[in-house]
Amino acid sequence: MRLNQCHNFHDFRRLAKRRLPGPIFNYIDGAADDELTCKRNTVSFNECDLVPDVLSGVKDIDMSVTVMGQRLDMPIYCSPTALQRLFHHQGENAVAAAAEKFGTMFGVSSLGTVSLEEVRQKYKNPQVYQFYFHKDRGLNKAMMERAKQSGVEVMMLTVDSITGGNRERDLRTGFSIPFRLTLAGMLQFAIKPMYGINYVTHEKFALPQLDQHVDMSGGALSIGRYFTEMLDPSMDWSDVEEMVKFWDGEFCLKGIMSVSDAKKAVDIGCSGIILSNHGGRQLDGSRSPFDQLAEVVDAVGDKIDVLMDSGVQRGTHVLKALSLGAKAVGGGRFYLYPLAAAGQAGVERALALMKAEIERDMRLMGCKSVSDLSSNNLRFR
Ligand code: FNR
Ligand code: LAC
Repeated sequence: MRLNQCHNFHDFRRLAKRRLPGPIFNYIDGAADDELTCKRNTVSFNECDLVPDVLSGVKDIDMSVTVMGQRLDMPIYCSPTALQRLFHHQGENAVAAAAEKFGTMFGVSSLGTVSLEEVRQKYKNPQVYQFYFHKDRGLNKAMMERAKQSGVEVMMLTVDSITGGNRERDLRTGFSIPFRLTLAGMLQFAIKPMYGINYVTHEKFALPQLDQHVDMSGGALSIGRYFTEMLDPSMDWSDVEEMVKFWDGEFCLKGIMSVSDAKKAVDIGCSGIILSNHGGRQLDGSRSPFDQLAEVVDAVGDKIDVLMDSGVQRGTHVLKALSLGAKAVGGGRFYLYPLAAAGQAGVERALALMKAEIERDMRLMGCKSVSDLSSNNLRFR
Protein backbone atom coordinates (compact mmCIF):
# COMPACT_ATOMS: atom_id res chain seq x y z
CA MET A 1 0.00 0.00 0.00
CA ARG A 2 1.30 3.45 -0.96
CA LEU A 3 0.39 7.00 0.00
CA ASN A 4 -1.58 7.64 -3.20
CA GLN A 5 -3.71 4.62 -2.35
CA CYS A 6 -4.81 6.25 0.91
CA HIS A 7 -8.29 7.70 0.50
CA ASN A 8 -9.45 7.98 4.09
CA PHE A 9 -8.53 7.84 7.77
CA HIS A 10 -8.50 4.06 7.84
CA ASP A 11 -6.13 3.79 4.88
CA PHE A 12 -3.64 6.15 6.55
CA ARG A 13 -3.97 4.21 9.79
CA ARG A 14 -3.19 0.96 8.02
CA LEU A 15 -0.12 2.45 6.35
CA ALA A 16 1.10 3.93 9.64
CA LYS A 17 0.67 0.58 11.32
CA ARG A 18 2.77 -1.08 8.67
CA ARG A 19 5.56 1.47 9.03
CA LEU A 20 5.77 2.03 12.78
CA PRO A 21 7.19 -0.26 15.43
CA GLY A 22 4.31 -1.65 17.50
CA PRO A 23 4.94 0.36 20.69
CA ILE A 24 4.82 3.67 18.79
CA PHE A 25 1.77 2.77 16.73
CA ASN A 26 -0.02 1.66 19.89
CA TYR A 27 0.88 4.87 21.70
CA ILE A 28 -0.90 6.85 18.96
CA ASP A 29 -3.74 4.43 18.37
CA GLY A 30 -4.43 3.51 21.97
CA ALA A 31 -6.58 5.15 24.60
CA ALA A 32 -7.55 4.73 28.26
CA ASP A 33 -8.97 1.63 29.97
CA ASP A 34 -11.31 -0.24 27.63
CA GLU A 35 -11.01 2.48 24.95
CA LEU A 36 -14.79 2.86 24.93
CA THR A 37 -14.75 6.66 24.87
CA CYS A 38 -12.25 6.62 22.02
CA LYS A 39 -14.64 4.55 19.91
CA ARG A 40 -17.70 6.45 21.10
CA ASN A 41 -16.19 9.76 19.93
CA THR A 42 -16.60 8.79 16.28
CA VAL A 43 -19.80 6.77 16.71
CA SER A 44 -21.59 9.79 18.16
CA PHE A 45 -21.15 11.72 14.89
CA ASN A 46 -22.79 8.85 13.08
CA GLU A 47 -25.91 8.85 15.22
CA CYS A 48 -27.34 11.96 13.68
CA ASP A 49 -28.05 12.84 10.07
CA LEU A 50 -27.50 15.80 7.82
CA VAL A 51 -30.58 17.19 6.11
CA PRO A 52 -29.52 18.97 2.94
CA ASP A 53 -31.13 21.96 1.27
CA VAL A 54 -30.81 21.97 -2.51
CA LEU A 55 -30.77 24.33 -5.47
CA SER A 56 -29.01 27.12 -3.62
CA GLY A 57 -26.31 27.97 -6.15
CA VAL A 58 -23.19 26.40 -4.71
CA LYS A 59 -20.60 27.19 -7.35
CA ASP A 60 -18.30 29.05 -4.98
CA ILE A 61 -17.67 27.58 -1.55
CA ASP A 62 -16.09 29.53 1.30
CA MET A 63 -15.14 27.25 4.19
CA SER A 64 -13.05 29.79 6.07
CA VAL A 65 -13.70 30.50 9.74
CA THR A 66 -12.36 32.98 12.26
CA VAL A 67 -11.63 31.59 15.66
CA MET A 68 -9.89 33.24 18.62
CA GLY A 69 -8.92 36.05 16.30
CA GLN A 70 -7.30 33.71 13.76
CA ARG A 71 -8.56 33.32 10.22
CA LEU A 72 -8.42 29.72 9.04
CA ASP A 73 -8.94 28.81 5.38
CA MET A 74 -10.54 25.55 6.46
CA PRO A 75 -12.54 24.78 9.61
CA ILE A 76 -10.33 21.94 10.87
CA TYR A 77 -6.93 22.43 12.49
CA CYS A 78 -4.13 20.14 13.68
CA SER A 79 -4.52 19.78 17.42
CA PRO A 80 -1.22 19.77 19.35
CA THR A 81 0.25 16.33 19.97
CA ALA A 82 3.39 15.11 21.69
CA LEU A 83 6.52 13.46 20.33
CA GLN A 84 5.98 13.95 16.61
CA ARG A 85 9.59 13.23 15.60
CA LEU A 86 9.14 9.73 17.00
CA PHE A 87 6.36 9.16 14.48
CA HIS A 88 8.31 10.54 11.50
CA HIS A 89 11.72 12.21 11.46
CA GLN A 90 10.19 15.41 9.98
CA GLY A 91 7.95 15.67 13.03
CA GLU A 92 6.40 19.04 13.88
CA ASN A 93 8.00 20.66 10.83
CA ALA A 94 5.96 18.41 8.55
CA VAL A 95 2.70 19.22 10.31
CA ALA A 96 3.35 22.96 10.47
CA ALA A 97 4.38 23.13 6.81
CA ALA A 98 1.35 21.15 5.64
CA ALA A 99 -0.98 23.26 7.81
CA GLU A 100 0.60 26.40 6.34
CA LYS A 101 -0.06 25.14 2.82
CA PHE A 102 -3.74 24.73 3.68
CA GLY A 103 -3.97 27.94 5.67
CA THR A 104 -4.92 26.33 8.93
CA MET A 105 -3.75 26.34 12.52
CA PHE A 106 -1.44 23.83 14.16
CA GLY A 107 -0.17 23.37 17.69
CA VAL A 108 3.11 22.66 19.37
CA SER A 109 2.88 20.49 22.47
CA SER A 110 4.74 21.02 25.72
CA LEU A 111 6.04 17.56 24.85
CA GLY A 112 6.88 18.62 21.30
CA THR A 113 10.12 17.43 19.70
CA VAL A 114 10.80 20.66 17.77
CA SER A 115 11.04 24.01 19.54
CA LEU A 116 8.07 26.34 19.41
CA GLU A 117 10.44 29.11 18.23
CA GLU A 118 11.74 27.11 15.29
CA VAL A 119 8.30 26.46 13.81
CA ARG A 120 7.03 29.96 14.64
CA GLN A 121 9.91 31.43 12.64
CA LYS A 122 9.59 29.10 9.67
CA TYR A 123 5.83 29.13 9.02
CA LYS A 124 3.26 31.88 8.78
CA ASN A 125 -0.01 30.21 9.74
CA PRO A 126 -1.52 30.63 13.21
CA GLN A 127 0.18 28.57 15.89
CA VAL A 128 -1.06 27.52 19.30
CA TYR A 129 1.18 26.55 22.15
CA GLN A 130 -0.20 23.68 24.18
CA PHE A 131 0.58 24.17 27.82
CA TYR A 132 0.80 21.65 30.63
CA PHE A 133 0.77 23.17 34.10
CA HIS A 134 3.83 21.98 36.02
CA LYS A 135 4.42 21.81 39.75
CA ASP A 136 7.39 24.08 39.12
CA ARG A 137 5.81 27.55 38.90
CA GLY A 138 9.09 29.01 37.67
CA LEU A 139 8.97 26.60 34.75
CA ASN A 140 5.39 27.64 33.98
CA LYS A 141 6.27 31.34 33.91
CA ALA A 142 9.38 30.71 31.84
CA MET A 143 7.43 28.65 29.32
CA MET A 144 4.78 31.33 28.93
CA GLU A 145 7.38 34.03 28.53
CA ARG A 146 9.14 31.97 25.86
CA ALA A 147 5.89 31.43 24.00
CA LYS A 148 5.09 35.15 24.17
CA GLN A 149 8.56 36.08 22.91
CA SER A 150 8.29 33.65 20.02
CA GLY A 151 5.10 35.27 18.75
CA VAL A 152 2.79 32.27 19.20
CA GLU A 153 -0.76 33.54 18.63
CA VAL A 154 -2.82 31.37 20.96
CA MET A 155 -2.16 29.82 24.36
CA MET A 156 -3.95 26.51 24.85
CA LEU A 157 -3.97 25.09 28.35
CA THR A 158 -4.89 21.41 28.52
CA VAL A 159 -7.09 20.79 31.54
CA ASP A 160 -8.14 17.15 31.11
CA SER A 161 -4.77 15.68 32.03
CA ILE A 162 -4.43 16.52 35.68
CA THR A 163 -3.17 12.96 36.04
CA GLY A 164 -2.14 10.37 33.45
CA GLY A 165 -4.85 8.26 31.77
CA ASN A 166 -4.58 4.49 32.08
CA ARG A 167 -3.10 3.49 28.73
CA GLU A 168 -2.83 -0.26 29.04
CA ARG A 169 -1.29 -0.77 25.60
CA ASP A 170 1.65 1.39 26.72
CA LEU A 171 2.00 -0.60 29.93
CA ARG A 172 2.29 -3.78 27.89
CA THR A 173 4.89 -2.44 25.45
CA GLY A 174 6.84 -0.37 27.97
CA PHE A 175 6.41 2.74 25.81
CA SER A 176 8.44 5.54 27.32
CA ILE A 177 10.86 8.23 26.23
CA PRO A 178 13.70 7.59 25.59
CA PHE A 179 12.86 3.97 24.92
CA ARG A 180 12.73 1.64 27.87
CA LEU A 181 11.01 -1.24 26.21
CA THR A 182 9.86 -4.61 27.39
CA LEU A 183 11.34 -7.58 25.54
CA ALA A 184 8.17 -7.88 23.47
CA GLY A 185 8.39 -4.16 22.70
CA MET A 186 12.00 -4.51 21.56
CA LEU A 187 11.07 -7.31 19.22
CA GLN A 188 8.56 -4.97 17.59
CA PHE A 189 11.38 -2.56 16.77
CA ALA A 190 13.57 -5.34 15.41
CA ILE A 191 10.98 -6.22 12.78
CA LYS A 192 10.77 -2.60 11.49
CA PRO A 193 14.43 -1.95 10.55
CA MET A 194 13.62 0.94 8.17
CA TYR A 195 12.09 2.87 11.05
CA GLY A 196 15.19 2.20 13.16
CA ILE A 197 17.56 3.34 10.42
CA ASN A 198 15.60 6.55 9.93
CA TYR A 199 15.49 7.19 13.65
CA VAL A 200 19.23 6.88 14.21
CA THR A 201 20.21 8.81 11.08
CA HIS A 202 18.24 11.94 11.95
CA GLU A 203 18.52 14.60 14.59
CA LYS A 204 18.73 13.19 18.11
CA PHE A 205 15.50 12.98 20.07
CA ALA A 206 14.82 16.00 22.28
CA LEU A 207 12.04 17.78 24.11
CA PRO A 208 13.08 21.40 23.49
CA GLN A 209 10.14 22.89 25.38
CA LEU A 210 11.26 21.09 28.53
CA ASP A 211 14.88 20.09 28.20
CA GLN A 212 16.26 22.73 30.53
CA HIS A 213 13.93 21.36 33.16
CA VAL A 214 13.68 17.60 32.62
CA ASP A 215 16.68 15.43 33.23
CA MET A 216 16.44 12.47 30.91
CA SER A 217 19.89 11.13 31.62
CA GLY A 218 18.75 9.17 34.65
CA GLY A 219 16.52 6.90 32.61
CA ALA A 220 13.23 6.89 30.83
CA LEU A 221 10.43 9.33 31.31
CA SER A 222 7.13 7.66 30.60
CA ILE A 223 4.14 9.75 29.62
CA GLY A 224 2.38 8.48 32.74
CA ARG A 225 5.28 9.53 34.96
CA TYR A 226 5.44 12.96 33.32
CA PHE A 227 1.80 13.53 34.22
CA THR A 228 2.00 12.19 37.76
CA GLU A 229 5.41 13.52 38.76
CA MET A 230 5.77 16.82 36.93
CA LEU A 231 2.28 18.18 36.46
CA ASP A 232 0.48 19.88 39.30
CA PRO A 233 -2.74 18.16 40.41
CA SER A 234 -3.55 21.12 42.66
CA MET A 235 -4.11 23.40 39.64
CA ASP A 236 -7.43 25.22 40.01
CA TRP A 237 -9.44 28.07 38.52
CA SER A 238 -7.51 30.76 40.38
CA ASP A 239 -4.20 29.49 38.95
CA VAL A 240 -5.68 29.60 35.48
CA GLU A 241 -7.16 33.07 36.01
CA GLU A 242 -3.65 34.25 36.87
CA MET A 243 -2.27 32.61 33.73
CA VAL A 244 -4.92 34.26 31.56
CA LYS A 245 -3.94 37.66 32.96
CA PHE A 246 -0.23 36.99 32.59
CA TRP A 247 -0.63 35.83 28.98
CA ASP A 248 -2.78 38.83 28.10
CA GLY A 249 -3.86 37.50 24.70
CA GLU A 250 -5.87 34.72 23.08
CA PHE A 251 -6.18 31.98 25.70
CA CYS A 252 -8.21 28.79 25.52
CA LEU A 253 -8.85 25.74 27.66
CA LYS A 254 -8.65 22.32 26.03
CA GLY A 255 -10.67 19.59 27.68
CA ILE A 256 -13.68 21.48 29.04
CA MET A 257 -16.81 19.32 28.99
CA SER A 258 -19.42 20.68 31.43
CA VAL A 259 -21.61 23.74 31.06
CA SER A 260 -20.58 25.00 34.49
CA ASP A 261 -16.88 24.85 33.57
CA ALA A 262 -17.62 26.54 30.25
CA LYS A 263 -19.22 29.40 32.17
CA LYS A 264 -16.21 29.64 34.49
CA ALA A 265 -13.94 29.85 31.44
CA VAL A 266 -15.99 32.85 30.27
CA ASP A 267 -15.79 34.43 33.74
CA ILE A 268 -11.99 34.27 33.93
CA GLY A 269 -11.60 35.86 30.51
CA CYS A 270 -10.75 32.96 28.19
CA SER A 271 -11.37 33.57 24.51
CA GLY A 272 -12.03 29.93 23.64
CA ILE A 273 -12.80 26.47 24.96
CA ILE A 274 -12.19 23.18 23.24
CA LEU A 275 -14.63 20.45 24.17
CA SER A 276 -12.39 17.40 24.19
CA ASN A 277 -11.75 14.14 25.96
CA HIS A 278 -8.19 13.98 24.60
CA GLY A 279 -9.18 11.43 21.97
CA GLY A 280 -10.37 9.05 24.71
CA ARG A 281 -6.87 8.87 26.18
CA GLN A 282 -7.71 10.18 29.65
CA LEU A 283 -11.10 9.42 31.29
CA ASP A 284 -12.64 6.37 29.69
CA GLY A 285 -16.41 6.40 30.02
CA SER A 286 -16.60 10.15 29.57
CA ARG A 287 -19.09 11.70 27.18
CA SER A 288 -18.11 12.49 23.64
CA PRO A 289 -17.52 16.19 22.89
CA PHE A 290 -19.93 16.03 19.96
CA ASP A 291 -22.74 14.80 22.21
CA GLN A 292 -22.01 17.62 24.64
CA LEU A 293 -21.65 20.35 22.05
CA ALA A 294 -25.23 21.68 21.70
CA GLU A 295 -25.64 22.09 25.46
CA VAL A 296 -22.43 24.08 25.81
CA VAL A 297 -23.02 26.23 22.71
CA ASP A 298 -26.51 27.04 24.03
CA ALA A 299 -25.06 28.21 27.33
CA VAL A 300 -21.96 30.17 26.28
CA GLY A 301 -21.78 30.19 22.47
CA ASP A 302 -22.42 33.92 22.29
CA LYS A 303 -19.69 34.77 24.83
CA ILE A 304 -16.75 32.57 23.89
CA ASP A 305 -15.53 30.57 20.88
CA VAL A 306 -16.58 26.97 21.37
CA LEU A 307 -14.42 24.44 19.50
CA MET A 308 -14.28 20.68 19.76
CA ASP A 309 -11.98 17.76 19.00
CA SER A 310 -11.94 13.96 19.42
CA GLY A 311 -13.11 11.34 16.96
CA VAL A 312 -13.11 13.46 13.79
CA GLN A 313 -12.35 11.35 10.72
CA ARG A 314 -14.55 12.77 7.95
CA GLY A 315 -15.62 16.04 6.36
CA THR A 316 -19.20 15.26 7.39
CA HIS A 317 -18.08 15.05 11.03
CA VAL A 318 -16.73 18.57 10.71
CA LEU A 319 -19.98 19.79 9.11
CA LYS A 320 -22.06 18.20 11.88
CA ALA A 321 -19.99 19.93 14.57
CA LEU A 322 -20.21 23.28 12.76
CA SER A 323 -23.99 22.81 12.40
CA LEU A 324 -24.27 22.57 16.18
CA GLY A 325 -22.32 25.79 16.60
CA ALA A 326 -18.66 24.78 16.93
CA LYS A 327 -16.46 27.58 15.54
CA ALA A 328 -13.79 25.13 14.38
CA VAL A 329 -12.86 21.50 14.87
CA GLY A 330 -9.55 19.94 15.90
CA GLY A 331 -8.12 16.58 15.01
CA GLY A 332 -5.21 14.50 16.26
CA ARG A 333 -5.01 11.04 14.75
CA PHE A 334 -6.44 12.27 11.42
CA TYR A 335 -3.03 13.86 10.72
CA LEU A 336 -0.83 11.67 12.94
CA TYR A 337 -1.31 8.47 10.96
CA PRO A 338 -0.55 10.32 7.71
CA LEU A 339 2.53 11.87 9.37
CA ALA A 340 3.73 8.43 10.44
CA ALA A 341 2.90 6.99 7.03
CA ALA A 342 4.68 9.58 4.87
CA GLY A 343 5.83 12.72 6.70
CA GLN A 344 4.83 16.09 5.24
CA ALA A 345 3.46 14.52 2.03
CA GLY A 346 1.18 12.37 4.18
CA VAL A 347 -0.17 15.29 6.23
CA GLU A 348 -0.70 17.29 3.04
CA ARG A 349 -2.64 14.46 1.49
CA ALA A 350 -4.80 14.11 4.62
CA LEU A 351 -5.56 17.85 4.63
CA ALA A 352 -6.25 17.85 0.88
CA LEU A 353 -8.69 14.94 1.21
CA MET A 354 -10.36 16.57 4.20
CA LYS A 355 -10.67 19.87 2.35
CA ALA A 356 -12.14 18.14 -0.71
CA GLU A 357 -14.62 16.29 1.49
CA ILE A 358 -15.74 19.44 3.26
CA GLU A 359 -16.10 21.31 -0.01
CA ARG A 360 -18.03 18.50 -1.69
CA ASP A 361 -20.24 17.98 1.36
CA MET A 362 -21.00 21.70 1.67
CA ARG A 363 -22.12 21.70 -1.96
CA LEU A 364 -24.27 18.64 -1.38
CA MET A 365 -25.70 20.34 1.72
CA GLY A 366 -26.52 23.48 -0.24
CA CYS A 367 -24.19 25.61 1.90
CA LYS A 368 -21.96 28.27 0.37
CA SER A 369 -20.32 29.29 3.61
CA VAL A 370 -19.95 27.93 7.11
CA SER A 371 -22.50 30.45 8.37
CA ASP A 372 -25.17 28.68 6.24
CA LEU A 373 -24.84 25.61 8.49
CA SER A 374 -27.17 25.42 11.48
CA SER A 375 -28.96 22.90 13.63
CA ASN A 376 -31.81 23.09 11.09
CA ASN A 377 -29.56 20.94 8.91
CA LEU A 378 -29.20 18.20 11.51
CA ARG A 379 -31.56 15.62 12.98
CA PHE A 380 -30.91 13.15 15.77
CA ARG A 381 -32.65 9.85 15.27
C1 FNR B 1 -2.53 13.75 21.85
N1 FNR B 1 -3.19 14.82 22.41
C2 FNR B 1 -2.48 15.77 23.11
N2 FNR B 1 -3.12 16.83 23.67
C3 FNR B 1 -2.45 17.76 24.35
O1 FNR B 1 -3.06 18.71 24.84
N3 FNR B 1 -1.09 17.67 24.48
C4 FNR B 1 -0.37 16.65 23.96
O2 FNR B 1 0.84 16.60 24.09
C5 FNR B 1 -1.08 15.64 23.26
N4 FNR B 1 -0.43 14.56 22.75
C6 FNR B 1 -1.11 13.61 22.03
C7 FNR B 1 -0.44 12.55 21.46
C8 FNR B 1 -1.12 11.62 20.69
C9 FNR B 1 -0.37 10.48 20.08
C10 FNR B 1 -2.52 11.74 20.49
C11 FNR B 1 -3.29 10.77 19.64
C12 FNR B 1 -3.21 12.79 21.07
C13 FNR B 1 -4.65 15.00 22.19
C14 FNR B 1 -4.94 15.75 20.89
O3 FNR B 1 -4.52 17.08 20.95
C15 FNR B 1 -6.44 15.74 20.58
O4 FNR B 1 -7.18 16.23 21.67
C16 FNR B 1 -6.93 14.34 20.25
O5 FNR B 1 -6.00 13.64 19.46
C17 FNR B 1 -8.27 14.41 19.54
O6 FNR B 1 -8.76 13.15 19.25
P1 FNR B 1 -8.55 12.41 17.83
O7 FNR B 1 -8.72 13.45 16.77
O8 FNR B 1 -7.18 11.81 17.85
O9 FNR B 1 -9.62 11.38 17.86
C1 LAC C 1 -0.92 12.07 25.31
C2 LAC C 1 -0.35 13.26 25.97
C3 LAC C 1 1.06 13.49 25.87
O1 LAC C 1 -2.11 12.07 25.04
O2 LAC C 1 -1.13 14.38 25.92
O3 LAC C 1 -0.18 11.08 25.11
